[in-house]
Amino acid sequence: MADDALNTLWLLHGVNLDMLGSRAPEQYGALTLGELESRVTAHAARRGFAVHCFQTNHEGAMVEQLHELARGGAAVIIINPGAWTHYSYAIRDALELVKVPIAEVHLSDIEAREEWRRRSVIADVATVRVWGKGVDGYFEAVDALATAVS
Ligand code: DQA
Repeated sequence: MADDALNTLWLLHGVNLDMLGSRAPEQYGALTLGELESRVTAHAARRGFAVHCFQTNHEGAMVEQLHELARGGAAVIIINPGAWTHYSYAIRDALELVKVPIAEVHLSDIEAREEWRRRSVIADVATVRVWGKGVDGYFEAVDALATAVS
């Protein structure tokens, strides 16, 4: 692993998460994606991580970002894949290529919503899974990943 990857946390967001702030705030909260990224970055800094953020609505772009990380550059990953969580074997297989601890995070309680949201096809490649806790769930994921690499 390159030296600069040793403490790098990649915070990845998938499809529709660029709409946070205006998208169903009763499910996802009132923070914009930028505000959420700032808060997670501040929390992660206290745990010794430097954070890089990436969001895309394009599945292939996320796969290519994960291929880049498979070549190095990340110590840990937090990903909220959005709806891809529930059906994208392509994202799941790309995550499997990145040999670092991965946290799957969801803002809303995916267990208490529609039936189809209960299924995560990426669960088996995640070291940590957190849902239903809003932005606090990301803080919990940061803490769990810090422990995983300590
Ligand atoms: C989500 C839950 C998904 O079911 C949904 O498609 C999203 C957001 C969450 O953060 O709660 O886009 O991942």
